[in-house]
Amino acid sequence: MLLQMENITKNYGAVRANSEVSFNLRKGEIHALVGENGAGKTTLMRILYGMETPTSGEIKLDDKSISLASPTDAIKHGIGMVHQHFMLFSSFSIAENIVIGREPAKAIGFDRKAAAMETERLAKQYGMPVDPWKKVGDCSLGVQQRVEILKVLYQGAEIIILDEPTGVLTPLEVKELLIAIKALAAQGKSFILISHKLQEILEVADRITVLRDGKVSGTVNAADTDEEQLSKLMVGRDLVKLSRNNRTRGKAVLEVSSLTVRGTKTKPLLDEVTLQVNEGEIVGIAGISGNGQSELLQAISGLMKPDAGSIKLLGQDITGASVLNIRKQGLAHIPEDRYQWGVSKEATVMENGLMGHTEKHQKYGVMQGAGIRKMVSEWVERFGIKTGSLHTKSQYLSGGNLQKLIVARELAQHSPFLIAAEPTRGVDVGAMEIIHTELLEKRDGQGAILLVSSELTEVLKLSDRIYVMCEGKVVGEMMAETATEERISLLMAGGKEVG
Ligand SMILES: Nc1ncnc2c1ncn2[C@@H]1O[C@H](COP(=O)(O)OP(=O)(O)OP(=O)(O)O)[C@@H](O)[C@H]1O
Ligand SMILES: [Mg+2]
Repeated sequence: MLLQMENITKNYGAVRANSEVSFNLRKGEIHALVGENGAGKTTLMRILYGMETPTSGEIKLDDKSISLASPTDAIKHGIGMVHQHFMLFSSFSIAENIVIGREPAKAIGFDRKAAAMETERLAKQYGMPVDPWKKVGDCSLGVQQRVEILKVLYQGAEIIILDEPTGVLTPLEVKELLIAIKALAAQGKSFILISHKLQEILEVADRITVLRDGKVSGTVNAADTDEEQLSKLMVGRDLVKLSRNNRTRGKAVLEVSSLTVRGTKTKPLLDEVTLQVNEGEIVGIAGISGNGQSELLQAISGLMKPDAGSIKLLGQDITGASVLNIRKQGLAHIPEDRYQWGVSKEATVMENGLMGHTEKHQKYGVMQGAGIRKMVSEWVERFGIKTGSLHTKSQYLSGGNLQKLIVARELAQHSPFLIAAEPTRGVDVGAMEIIHTELLEKRDGQGAILLVSSELTEVLKLSDRIYVMCEGKVVGEMMAETATEERISLLMAGGKEVG
């Protein structure tokens, strides 16, 4: 066996993130690690990458016990990790990002040309093409992901840990990534792959280990299992089934007309977009990410000033208004980038929960602790948010649990209008069902929801009406009843419907 993690336990105070976990990896294998949010997947991998010291347990490489006190140790042993959130320098070139920390040196300073050549060599060897001189900030997320992997390969990794690598990628990028991983495994590299997307896992993995509440609930061969069995191992129960009621569509809540954001390129980022969301309706936006969806949401929520066009919320013109005023007018917002706009990592679960809810918990200018605690505790219960306590700093929540906290907080605004951008990114299958149910309940209560998701299945499952965006324009509109994956995919890719 190439790698063995034996009886790994990790305690954070009273929280037991890993409990007697045993996990192994064969050479050339793709071994998937799955489990609910907070099950302990990232923790186990941070231990393997030397970022955390286990409370107890042993790690063996080629049957010899090793100690991993830091990522430097891990890299020395040929273990590399691509994290749940990218850690690249966006103002540096691809080549610089890849060689950073181990730069080819000239007599004085840094040899850019050598770095670029080295990058090209790696890209060729591993079949992952990149332009070494391009600035990382100008690259698509798919390319950034490739750079992260090339960087790890440059460091000499034989074992590569990927923590939710497909979470932010487009379907095509996911396909390319999975092909690249398979090819690398065939060359003898070994992978540990964390993902909530069971279909992908079943397609690419050799074996799958399931964690539940910090413990291993099973290791199975991918060929001998299916989504249903995996879900059961993860959740320990059957999933709730989603039911949709017929809707009663009311008056217009959001009216966007000819909205344009020019940007710095020749083509506008948002090109004369006109759309409407009514009471009691979920309107989905389908599109490959990077086709104007972000600009649309930022313009509606006041994070970006549009160059032309207008936005009305409940009949009031909010074009160019401040974030605060738009929120007051009736917007709640589950943001696309939870780390940039969603939460403060330094603040506790309770403090982050309070954001946007301060007014109703104030009396004579004093915050009412009991009421706040009750409100946030209720969310923790309803959404199954795994946290040590309400006073745990948000940075210690697992990725999916943080997402659940934001969703709960924004839904609790009971605002007439909700923007839900990638509402289930990084959450497990059980939590996804809970969030979907909550969104549908809001709509049944006459709420208006604008849903943007890179998961086409999510758009199709929840929406009453769908707009398709491509290159900053709305290129199609259809009722859910007539929408199919094929029809939308064609429009998303810039194709035209005939007839
Ligand atoms: N530094 C820390 N301090 C306190 N608790 C922590 C710390 N790191 C992780 N935890 C807790 O350990 C548990 C496991 O977290 P982990 O990030 O490993 O989950 P995960 O399986 O990766 O979940 P997700 O799918 O949401 O990413 C969680 O309950 C989390 O709150
Ligand atoms: Mg995680």
